[in-house]
Amino acid sequence: LSYSSPKERSFVIETLLNGLSRLEYRGYDSAGMAIDGNANNETRIYKQVGKVAALRKLVGEDEKDMGHVYQSQFGMAHTRWATHGEPSSNNSHPHRSDDNNTFTVIHNGIVTNYKEIKTVLENKGYSFKTDTDTEVVVKLIKYVYDSQRGAKLAFPDLVKAVCRELEGASAFIFKSTHYPNEVVVFRRGSPLMVGIKTDKKLTADFVDVEYFNEAGVTENNSDVPIKRIQNQLFSTSHSDNKGVEYIFSSDSSAIIEHTRKVLFLEENDIAHISQNGDLRIHRLTREEGMSSIRSIKTLEMELAEIMKGSFPHFMLKEIYEQPESVVNTMRGRVDFANNKVILGGLQSHLSSIRRCRRIVFCACGTSYHSCIATRAIFEELTEIPVSLELASDFLDRKSPIFRDDVCVFVSQSGETADTILAMKYCLQRGALCVGVTNTVGSTISRETHCGVHINAGPEIGVASTKAYTSQYLALVMMALQLGEDRSSMTERRQEIIQGLKELPGKIKEVLNLDDSLKQISKDGLHGEKSLLILGRGYNNATSLEGALKIKELAYIHCEGIPAGELKHGPLALIDETMPIILIMTNDIHYNKTRSALQQVVARKGLPIILCNEGNEGLPEKCKTIVIPKTVDCLSGIMAIIPLQILSYHLAIMNGVDVDFPRNLAKSVTVE
Ligand code: G6P
Repeated sequence: LSYSSPKERSFVIETLLNGLSRLEYRGYDSAGMAIDGNANNETRIYKQVGKVAALRKLVGEDEKDMGHVYQSQFGMAHTRWATHGEPSSNNSHPHRSDDNNTFTVIHNGIVTNYKEIKTVLENKGYSFKTDTDTEVVVKLIKYVYDSQRGAKLAFPDLVKAVCRELEGASAFIFKSTHYPNEVVVFRRGSPLMVGIKTDKKLTADFVDVEYFNEAGVTENNSDVPIKRIQNQLFSTSHSDNKGVEYIFSSDSSAIIEHTRKVLFLEENDIAHISQNGDLRIHRLTREEGMSSIRSIKTLEMELAEIMKGSFPHFMLKEIYEQPESVVNTMRGRVDFANNKVILGGLQSHLSSIRRCRRIVFCACGTSYHSCIATRAIFEELTEIPVSLELASDFLDRKSPIFRDDVCVFVSQSGETADTILAMKYCLQRGALCVGVTNTVGSTISRETHCGVHINAGPEIGVASTKAYTSQYLALVMMALQLGEDRSSMTERRQEIIQGLKELPGKIKEVLNLDDSLKQISKDGLHGEKSLLILGRGYNNATSLEGALKIKELAYIHCEGIPAGELKHGPLALIDETMPIILIMTNDIHYNKTRSALQQVVARKGLPIILCNEGNEGLPEKCKTIVIPKTVDCLSGIMAIIPLQILSYHLAIMNGVDVDFPRNLAKSVTVE
């Protein structure tokens, strides 16, 4: 957060703490803040283990002790998901170069070569007080600054010299008492955007990028215009920048309550707020074909979307939003009268996609499950073979990818490091890359050739719910559009499209089961140490996703098992004490799933059965969860919702902080 004119310090602190609370879902094991102290160019640092509320308390106590209000122009704050070093006050950010806080840094990501840099600095006499990779960066910048001969480097040039030495995906914010009232940020591999808040009229809707040569000095002897005159956003008079606020953030949720005007930084961008409040953008490297401007975009999101409203938790709100979020995924894209689906973001690439020799789905976590869930309908409607890749495993294997492959990257955040790296790998190999994300402006949505925004609205609960059902739906819609040229499939497509129309109403019916699901959680599952979920065909993915929800929220060991695999091993676990949920929706695989039921019952197992109405012949003693029937390939959208609700209730009964389960983060921007 940077202000080009001083504000009351408490105002800056409050703005930072509120922003940090909004970003907390990205990591919440510790938090910290650095803030301009007073006229003596002092920087104060506060750090605390735990959630943002604990930091708020600490800062509040200090404010009281100080007894008076300082003016302040700048502050930075961070909420951490530990990678290097346990969650502790010492390891939390901001990190500092020395006891005087000469340089302070916050960092999102990992510096993969930090050990090498640390050894060099240790040989130069530096000692380290934390276990983090970030401390290496803040010591390195001090070392580079102190080693300067002659003219002092400008702050962005200093940052540039440091960032050149760093490897790995990161975003940084740098501040220094040597450069009062200046801020420099750098982005490579982790998201970073700038909100611009002002009552003034902007005189331009973009900022030019300044190019520097290797020595860090602006070139002026080339026939290509590598130095561009910096665009003045407001006017040519510096004093006009007073009253302008810049807010740097990993995502828009911390910005939206202040401004809708944002500028997304690109890979290797260095942004600088100068002493007089100008925003300048430089490059770490010169790359051919890179845009020479950064446009100012308008955020479409509403503040209410990132607030809980009357719900006790974001997760519950998001579960209950599903009748609307699926409508938003379909809005303007499904023509029910003519049985057509048009996804505008794919339109210009349809023929290339149809010509490909295979489709590779690549994702992590819940997003990966949406790929498993829709693979069958994709293959059926398009007749193109689909392979599934967990992004991390795909990268480990360096799987062969060719120019005639289509790679689909599914990611709620669009910022998951594993998925981004897999995307870069496929882009380099010339594959056509398609993004399916929930986050407009995210790395995946910007760097893929084409794609679909699932439009589920911001998802804050760490456990994904509405994004899963919307990803599922978006992938089904994509298959419908791609398969449109196959006349043999006309009826099948019509059946599915009519199924889409009924989906919101049927989801509402599933939500009505909430009370009975709460009872089942209490009587049938609470207190168990382990649980199995069996599913088959379209609901194989449901069993995996349901198990993931229960693991991450209720902290109960839970395994999702394809029902066909039961006899190949897991059957050994079954006896009268093993809790089981069996998904048995009425589709083409029903009889085979019934064999699994018989195998379980024969071993005295007593599963809870998730089924459609009118299922005769189920064992009397078994509890049932009855959901409305829908088209087979959409049944996974219906069937996951009771499992989301069950996991929510189990989490509450187990005293879990539902929106912030331990050890997890919503958006994992490290490999
Ligand atoms: C993290 C989250 C999961 C999520 C996964 C992929 O691990 O905790 O809930 O499914 O990342 O996230 P993405 O944003 O790529 O869908």
